Amino acid sequence: MNEERILIRRAGPLHGEVVIPGAKNSVLKLMAATLLADGTSTLTNVPDIGDVGIMAELLAAIGVRSEWAGAGTLRLVNDGDISPVAPYELVERIRASINVLGPLLGRFGRVSLSLPGGDDFGSRPIDMHLRGLEAMGATFELQHGVVEARAERLHGADITLDFPSVGATENILTAAVHAKGTTVIDNAAREPELSDLCNFLVSMGAQIEGIGSSTLVVHGVQPGDLHAADHRVVADRIQAATYLAAVAVSGGEVTLRGACAEHMEMLLRRFHDMGLTVTTVGDGLAVWANGRLRSIDVATLPYPGIATDYKPLIVTMLSVADGVGIVTENLYPGRFRYVEELQRLGADIRADGHHAVVRGVPHLSGAPVRAPDIRAGAALIVAGLAAEGDTTVTGVHHIDRGYDDLVGRLAALGADIERVPAS
Ligand code: UD1
Repeated sequence: MNEERILIRRAGPLHGEVVIPGAKNSVLKLMAATLLADGTSTLTNVPDIGDVGIMAELLAAIGVRSEWAGAGTLRLVNDGDISPVAPYELVERIRASINVLGPLLGRFGRVSLSLPGGDDFGSRPIDMHLRGLEAMGATFELQHGVVEARAERLHGADITLDFPSVGATENILTAAVHAKGTTVIDNAAREPELSDLCNFLVSMGAQIEGIGSSTLVVHGVQPGDLHAADHRVVADRIQAATYLAAVAVSGGEVTLRGACAEHMEMLLRRFHDMGLTVTTVGDGLAVWANGRLRSIDVATLPYPGIATDYKPLIVTMLSVADGVGIVTENLYPGRFRYVEELQRLGADIRADGHHAVVRGVPHLSGAPVRAPDIRAGAALIVAGLAAEGDTTVTGVHHIDRGYDDLVGRLAALGADIERVPAS
């Protein structure tokens, strides 16, 4: 029996418009934040992706119901009947499950959380999350793979993170909104998705200063003082970058509706260095590419640096660029695993530790490959657009976890791509 796969053939320039959906890395956190207040919150611009379904199941197990109210609109109902236990079967499927810790601990003072799973890359410890919450008065006990967290009422604290971890900043923030007194988070992550969460919390009644900066100041409110709210999810800069990369390797001219240039500034600068023309238009971006790309060196860094999630796309682009590019990964040790798959497509890449040296080749050559995680899966699809012959990508469920109809959207731009069902 053959599993479901995506079949891609080189098709030449892409043309037209694509609407960029809301960000996975924001919506999952917004959903978890609805644990903070009773009532019905409505999120719009919600991507139709697998991880939203898993997060909805996790929240349903805890006590918040989700229902779609039309395309892109998700209603979350918290009627106050919450059981702060996050079961292993759901937690292991998605890294963002860790985001229920902060809201539950801050509001209810106790949580049982199995250790989280998510993408299979590198080791993903949560020591910074726990240390920050401990500074606010929480205690943790790890037994049989379950973190038992307790706190009477959390109190404000001055917390300096060793590293601007996105997840740790989010958990400390969502706990601090209900703490007694003021919490200062220094060296906080500044990702646009984190600012999106801050803005949602503010519309729920939280008091947060310094949004978008590396120092967040949170003045705690009484449990019960927050209320449900409505919010539009920020555009997904990683999905936007995927369409930019697709145009980069195929040529053409495409408008990305809803994409936010401000959130992708550094990446757009580097794409410009590679030979892409990107301009802002009305409510999005227009990209134009024609001819060979130029190689560049890139290092991943926390925002506003080049995100680690962009990296598989950049490595794919460098695979068919003129010259040699060196890519340095500064966030995760194991994030070059997809390189072997790109090599199957004829890419000339040497990866060692945190570095990959990519020597551009004239073109890739199609082959069967397997997606090891969400972002690498999307990059393999982009690679397929640059490859002579048929490329088939399996591990489709990974791509569906984070991409809202990538195949349909690329096909609408003129790509020769289709899903082939399991047979
Ligand atoms: C989030 C994103 C992920 C992105 C990453 C970095 C979601 C669901 N995932 O992951 O797509 O690649 O940000 O932009 O939003 N670390 C520790 N101890 C901790 C916490 C983190 O050592 O307590 C390390 C991690 O192992 C990693 C680095 O810090 O090496 C970055 O992690 P973090 O910023 O927390 O990423 P996530 O929130 O897990």
